[in-house]
Amino acid sequence: MGNGFSVNKNYKNPVVIGGGIGVYPMLETAKQLNATAILGFRNKDLVTLEEDFNKYSKRVYITTDDGSYKRSGRVTDVLAELLLTEDIDAIFACGPMPMLKALKPIAANNGIYLEVSLEERMACGIGACLCCATKVSDKEMEEGYNFAHVCKHGPVFNAKEVLFND
Ligand code: FES
Repeated sequence: MGNGFSVNKNYKNPVVIGGGIGVYPMLETAKQLNATAILGFRNKDLVTLEEDFNKYSKRVYITTDDGSYKRSGRVTDVLAELLLTEDIDAIFACGPMPMLKALKPIAANNGIYLEVSLEERMACGIGACLCCATKVSDKEMEEGYNFAHVCKHGPVFNAKEVLFND
Protein backbone atom coordinates (compact mmCIF):
# COMPACT_ATOMS: atom_id res chain seq x y z
CA MET A 1 0.00 0.00 0.00
CA GLY A 2 1.04 3.61 -0.04
CA ASN A 3 2.12 6.28 -2.48
CA GLY A 4 5.30 7.94 -3.71
CA PHE A 5 6.61 11.40 -4.46
CA SER A 6 5.00 13.36 -7.29
CA VAL A 7 7.75 12.97 -9.85
CA ASN A 8 5.52 13.22 -12.90
CA LYS A 9 5.39 17.01 -13.00
CA ASN A 10 7.72 19.56 -14.48
CA TYR A 11 9.64 21.38 -11.79
CA LYS A 12 12.13 24.08 -12.70
CA ASN A 13 14.46 23.72 -9.75
CA PRO A 14 13.51 20.82 -7.47
CA VAL A 15 15.43 19.89 -4.34
CA VAL A 16 15.44 16.58 -2.51
CA ILE A 17 16.35 16.55 1.15
CA GLY A 18 17.23 13.46 3.15
CA GLY A 19 18.16 13.09 6.78
CA GLY A 20 19.84 9.95 8.15
CA ILE A 21 18.19 6.81 6.80
CA GLY A 22 15.75 9.14 5.07
CA VAL A 23 18.35 9.61 2.31
CA TYR A 24 17.55 6.21 0.82
CA PRO A 25 14.16 6.96 -0.74
CA MET A 26 15.48 10.27 -2.04
CA LEU A 27 18.01 8.78 -4.44
CA GLU A 28 15.52 7.59 -7.02
CA THR A 29 13.57 10.82 -6.63
CA ALA A 30 16.73 12.87 -7.25
CA LYS A 31 17.47 10.77 -10.29
CA GLN A 32 14.02 11.09 -11.79
CA LEU A 33 13.86 14.84 -11.23
CA ASN A 34 17.53 15.63 -11.84
CA ALA A 35 17.24 17.49 -8.55
CA THR A 36 19.68 19.15 -6.21
CA ALA A 37 20.26 16.92 -3.19
CA ILE A 38 20.82 18.08 0.37
CA LEU A 39 21.75 15.23 2.70
CA GLY A 40 22.22 15.43 6.43
CA PHE A 41 23.89 12.94 8.75
CA ARG A 42 24.88 12.89 12.40
CA ASN A 43 28.56 12.30 11.63
CA LYS A 44 31.06 11.15 9.01
CA ASP A 45 30.65 7.44 9.83
CA LEU A 46 26.97 7.58 8.96
CA VAL A 47 27.36 9.21 5.55
CA THR A 48 25.99 6.91 2.88
CA LEU A 49 25.12 6.91 -0.84
CA GLU A 50 27.37 9.90 -1.54
CA GLU A 51 28.72 8.45 -4.78
CA ASP A 52 25.25 7.52 -5.98
CA PHE A 53 23.88 10.97 -5.30
CA ASN A 54 26.90 12.49 -7.04
CA LYS A 55 26.09 10.36 -10.04
CA TYR A 56 22.35 10.85 -10.21
CA SER A 57 21.61 14.35 -8.91
CA LYS A 58 22.25 17.77 -10.32
CA ARG A 59 24.53 18.63 -7.38
CA VAL A 60 24.95 17.40 -3.83
CA TYR A 61 25.39 19.13 -0.49
CA ILE A 62 26.26 17.07 2.57
CA THR A 63 26.03 18.23 6.15
CA THR A 64 26.98 16.58 9.41
CA ASP A 65 25.69 17.63 12.80
CA ASP A 66 29.15 17.45 14.35
CA GLY A 67 31.05 18.88 11.38
CA SER A 68 33.14 15.70 10.94
CA TYR A 69 32.47 15.63 7.17
CA LYS A 70 31.71 18.33 4.60
CA ARG A 71 29.59 21.12 6.00
CA SER A 72 28.79 21.45 9.67
CA GLY A 73 25.16 22.07 10.47
CA ARG A 74 21.71 21.13 9.29
CA VAL A 75 20.12 20.60 5.91
CA THR A 76 17.97 23.63 6.58
CA ASP A 77 21.12 25.80 6.73
CA VAL A 78 22.05 24.76 3.19
CA LEU A 79 18.49 25.28 2.00
CA ALA A 80 18.39 28.77 3.50
CA GLU A 81 21.63 29.64 1.69
CA LEU A 82 20.37 28.36 -1.65
CA LEU A 83 17.22 30.39 -1.25
CA LEU A 84 19.27 33.57 -1.10
CA THR A 85 20.39 33.15 -4.69
CA GLU A 86 17.90 30.97 -6.52
CA ASP A 87 14.26 30.10 -6.91
CA ILE A 88 13.35 26.62 -5.75
CA ASP A 89 9.89 25.50 -6.75
CA ALA A 90 9.61 22.09 -5.11
CA ILE A 91 11.12 20.18 -2.21
CA PHE A 92 10.80 16.45 -1.54
CA ALA A 93 12.00 15.25 1.82
CA CYS A 94 12.36 12.24 4.06
CA GLY A 95 13.99 12.10 7.45
CA PRO A 96 13.43 12.73 11.14
CA MET A 97 10.20 14.45 12.11
CA PRO A 98 11.94 17.58 13.50
CA MET A 99 13.67 18.03 10.12
CA LEU A 100 10.43 17.69 8.19
CA LYS A 101 8.68 20.00 10.62
CA ALA A 102 11.41 22.62 10.18
CA LEU A 103 11.02 22.50 6.41
CA LYS A 104 7.31 23.28 6.48
CA PRO A 105 7.52 26.99 7.42
CA ILE A 106 10.52 27.52 5.14
CA ALA A 107 8.55 26.14 2.21
CA ALA A 108 5.41 28.05 3.15
CA ASN A 109 7.26 31.36 3.55
CA ASN A 110 8.95 30.97 0.17
CA GLY A 111 5.96 29.65 -1.78
CA ILE A 112 7.62 26.29 -2.38
CA TYR A 113 5.67 23.09 -2.93
CA LEU A 114 6.76 20.58 -0.28
CA GLU A 115 6.14 16.85 -0.08
CA VAL A 116 7.29 14.85 2.93
CA SER A 117 7.63 11.12 3.36
CA LEU A 118 6.83 10.34 6.98
CA GLU A 119 8.66 7.78 9.05
CA GLU A 120 6.28 6.13 11.50
CA ARG A 121 6.21 2.87 13.39
CA MET A 122 3.99 0.42 11.59
CA ALA A 123 2.40 -2.81 12.72
CA CYS A 124 -0.20 -4.01 10.22
CA GLY A 125 0.79 -1.93 7.19
CA ILE A 126 -2.75 -2.10 5.78
CA GLY A 127 -4.56 0.70 7.57
CA ALA A 128 -6.19 -1.48 10.24
CA CYS A 129 -4.35 -0.95 13.53
CA LEU A 130 -3.97 2.87 13.87
CA CYS A 131 -0.34 2.38 14.89
CA CYS A 132 0.89 4.83 12.26
CA ALA A 133 -1.81 7.50 12.65
CA THR A 134 -0.67 11.06 12.05
CA LYS A 135 -2.60 14.30 12.42
CA VAL A 136 -3.62 15.99 9.17
CA SER A 137 -5.68 19.11 8.61
CA ASP A 138 -9.32 18.51 7.70
CA LYS A 139 -11.59 21.53 7.44
CA GLU A 140 -14.66 19.34 7.36
CA MET A 141 -14.01 18.12 10.89
CA GLU A 142 -15.18 20.31 13.75
CA GLU A 143 -11.71 20.28 15.31
CA GLY A 144 -10.09 21.13 11.97
CA TYR A 145 -8.04 17.97 11.86
CA ASN A 146 -8.29 14.27 11.36
CA PHE A 147 -5.94 11.31 11.41
CA ALA A 148 -4.38 9.68 8.36
CA HIS A 149 -2.65 6.32 8.24
CA VAL A 150 0.92 6.77 7.08
CA CYS A 151 0.96 3.20 5.73
CA LYS A 152 -2.23 3.55 3.70
CA HIS A 153 -2.63 7.26 2.89
CA GLY A 154 1.10 8.03 2.75
CA PRO A 155 3.90 7.74 3.43
CA VAL A 156 4.13 10.82 1.17
CA PHE A 157 1.96 13.81 2.04
CA ASN A 158 1.72 17.37 0.88
CA ALA A 159 3.31 19.11 3.87
CA LYS A 160 0.42 21.58 3.99
CA GLU A 161 -1.80 18.75 5.23
CA VAL A 162 0.53 17.44 7.92
CA LEU A 163 0.17 18.91 11.40
CA PHE A 164 3.27 17.13 12.76
CA ASN A 165 1.26 16.06 15.82
CA ASP A 166 1.11 19.62 17.15
S1 FES B 1 0.51 0.25 10.39
FE1 FES B 1 -1.46 -0.34 11.03
S2 FES B 1 -2.71 1.30 10.33
FE2 FES B 1 -0.74 1.76 9.56
